[in-house]
Amino acid sequence: MFDGKKIREDFPIFNSNKDLIYFDNAATTQKPKQVLDALQEFYSQCNANVHRGIYKIAVEATDEYEEAREKVSQFINSKIEELIWTRGATEAINQILYAWALWNLKKDDEIVTTIMEHHSNLVPWQLLQKNGVKIRYVNLNGDGTLNMKELENSVSKKTKFVTVTQMSNVLGTINPVEEIVKIAHDNGALCLIDAAQSVPHMEVDVKKINCDFLVFSAHKMLGPTGVGGLYAKQEILEKLDPALRGSEQIKSVSLFETEWTDLPWKFEPGTPNFADIVAFGYAVDYLKKLGMKNVREHERDLTKYALEKLQQISKLKIFGPLNGTRGGVISFQLADIHAHDMASFLDDNNIAVRSGHHCAMPLMKYLGISGTTRASFYIYNMKEEIDKFIETLEKAKQVFKV
Ligand SMILES: Cc1ncc(COP(=O)(O)O)c(C=O)c1O
Repeated sequence: MFDGKKIREDFPIFNSNKDLIYFDNAATTQKPKQVLDALQEFYSQCNANVHRGIYKIAVEATDEYEEAREKVSQFINSKIEELIWTRGATEAINQILYAWALWNLKKDDEIVTTIMEHHSNLVPWQLLQKNGVKIRYVNLNGDGTLNMKELENSVSKKTKFVTVTQMSNVLGTINPVEEIVKIAHDNGALCLIDAAQSVPHMEVDVKKINCDFLVFSAHKMLGPTGVGGLYAKQEILEKLDPALRGSEQIKSVSLFETEWTDLPWKFEPGTPNFADIVAFGYAVDYLKKLGMKNVREHERDLTKYALEKLQQISKLKIFGPLNGTRGGVISFQLADIHAHDMASFLDDNNIAVRSGHHCAMPLMKYLGISGTTRASFYIYNMKEEIDKFIETLEKAKQVFKV
């Protein structure tokens, strides 16, 4: 276990905003000075385009860039060849849509997903409907967990693809992804895991999950914006043509044909976001040093504490599991206070939370609400902050007279 207070010292944002209680970590996380310094050092010491120049700083830049890939692939237990840099989870999902799904799914094929998906793992797949592909959505149990019986019944020999979030950005629900992948594979379907909310918060091992694709974003795990990862099994990537095309991903080009280069670069045309990718490697170093088991334990402890206290507030409704396998994301509604009013009131008290539909409109509709207020925790959060949060919610009840 580690000390949230000590960790905060590494985060300059908390020096500039002394009283800030930052509970919007599911949207993006703050950055430690180790990551900010890495970015500054890269630009100051060896900035040069990667995989191009043969002069010293270009070689150094390329080495640093590929070292980041080594660090991040080890972090999720993939091979180097299987980790493709993207701009984020959303772009990674779109790459699978355009490189694989649009070419391989046909009329009357089915894809199975869940009602708890983020728009990033829902909107892209709707495009497949133009080819006559049917999308099936699996619903939830009353406690906000995924209805696994329904999932099992929804996946059939018609299913070619199953795509599921590992952790809901609204409910905090953690889905049994190993079991889901097995169900998909037993029916001959491929499976994508949206790990945007899980890779930052728990040990994620792509080999253990045995998924075909997995996506995540650096900015949700201490890293810079504009960087993400697409994991895909090597044997699948070898058979695919890239969704995005241009320079650098080639062995040879003639006027009418191109021969792709080796994995993973085949899927990375153009100049990548190399400086931020290098800095992302340092974010992963930071998390590794803390230990992902400890990160998970810290958040489990904070979440349990917060859930216990929240349940003591009358007229407060929590959306998502109250115990069991869940992450540090808590969505709630307090009486009939509008989520945005609640978030503004919390902001007046220096508590940053998100309010609204959280890019999950179908889930909101399913729950019969227009939005929630959401608090989400990370490594630098502390129980004292939760105490202040609870006090402020009590104060809100008086001010809004509910
Ligand atoms: C579950 C989930 N999937 C996908 C995304 C999209 O991530 P990004 O906006 O970094 O591409 C998010 C972002 O909030 C998310 O929470």
